[in-house]
Amino acid sequence: MPPDIFQASLTTPRLLLTLLPPDAAARVLAYHLANREHLGPVSPARPDNFFTVTWWRSRLAQDAEDWRRGLALRLFLLSRELPSQSSPVLGSVSLNDIRRGPLQCAELGFGLDARHQGKGLMSEAVSAVCAHAFGPLGLHRLMANHLPDNHRSAAVLRRVGFQVEGLARQSVLIEGRWRDHVLTARVAPEPPED
Ligand SMILES: CC(C)(COP(=O)(O)OP(=O)(O)OC[C@H]1O[C@@H](n2cnc3c(N)ncnc32)[C@H](O)[C@@H]1OP(=O)(O)O)[C@@H](O)C(=O)NCCC(=O)NCCS
Repeated sequence: MPPDIFQASLTTPRLLLTLLPPDAAARVLAYHLANREHLGPVSPARPDNFFTVTWWRSRLAQDAEDWRRGLALRLFLLSRELPSQSSPVLGSVSLNDIRRGPLQCAELGFGLDARHQGKGLMSEAVSAVCAHAFGPLGLHRLMANHLPDNHRSAAVLRRVGFQVEGLARQSVLIEGRWRDHVLTARVAPEPPED
């Protein structure tokens, strides 16, 4: 059964994690413009028109379609203290490349506004997304990769229970260079015995 688009929001003590509609493109763009230097060095190569409202409008429509088809869940972090229609985007957490059948797995990705680091917001968000993935979404295994010197990302993953599984050599093109990535994963907790 395809996932219900209207259930694509999660709440944590401080955050609303939600899909955003195409008319929120300017807010998402503002987040990426403010964090160009922060996110660029750890992000896969981006299309030429990435920093435009047009690209984001089409990407947000694609996010809704990918969720409807069960392919990906790309959530944005908003503050629960502000109305969701006007809250600035604080970051994102995504489950990409959701695979079913005998794999039941997805790739986890995340990024946070540099000005909001150091408050535990991303650990809170990733923890909620993992619980959703292993609970209602029924996934069994989540994978996340990071650059070897990305210590903040490594710390978030460790904090929420991911374990290092290896190193993928020259696996992602970032700012024109093929970069190694540390491979980490977390598997679903065992169901309690009767
Ligand atoms: C990776 C990234 C999301 C981590 O952000 P972060 O702020 O370090 O992570 P959290 O929001 O979970 O915050 C953890 C920090 O808050 C502190 N903290 C404060 N209050 C906290 C709370 N209530 N709960 C947990 N931690 C708390 C922790 O001690 C930790 O501090 P430290 O950095 O001094 O150890 C961020 O650096 C980022 O966006 N980087 C660029 C994008 C990126 O690398 N993405 C991953 C690519 S694989």
